[in-house]
Amino acid sequence: KMKAAVFASGTGSNFQALLDTDDLTCEISLLVCDQPGAAVIEKASKAGIPIFLFNPKDYDSKEAYEKEILRVLENRGVSWIFLAGYMRIVGSTLLHAYEGKIVNIHPSLLPSFPGKDAIGQAFQAGVETTGVTVHYIDEGIDTGPIIAQEVVEILPTDTQDSLTKRIQQVEHQLYPKVINELLS
Ligand code: GAR
Repeated sequence: KMKAAVFASGTGSNFQALLDTDDLTCEISLLVCDQPGAAVIEKASKAGIPIFLFNPKDYDSKEAYEKEILRVLENRGVSWIFLAGYMRIVGSTLLHAYEGKIVNIHPSLLPSFPGKDAIGQAFQAGVETTGVTVHYIDEGIDTGPIIAQEVVEILPTDTQDSLTKRIQQVEHQLYPKVINELLS
């Protein structure tokens, strides 16, 4: 099985969804996390997944910490990187080393509503449809070639919470599906 690392900064529901996908065709062999208090860390420890936790403030530059991450990835034979709520722009060190092998999931129909709080942005904007995008990353914020999108309707009865729940359900189905297609 091909080895993959998940990069995450937060709750880790997408990370957990990948772990819970029985027929995932790659092995999630590392969690890379930049937030010591993130709930995703506990999820990884429970599942026995190795964690590389780093604090960007301990390094002089993005290049310096990405070189460290790269060392860990290469030591573990990781060939794909899946971002799942990793709230940092990936720099050229990792982009060059893993060209065409870094994928992100984002809770909107990109190019609409990039950046933080995409669900809140869409809800506030009053649009009737939003959704989920899986895409390759480049040096921008939630830019890069789109691989797959799924539409989620915003219902008149929706609150931001109910919309968030539906979008997350879609994410948890779509990400493993798209990953399996990519690796096949
Ligand atoms: C997910 O909704 C993911 O799409 C989003 O962060 C959330 C993380 O949730 N990513 C972005 O907004 C990237 N710009 P999780 O920690 O429960 O998987």
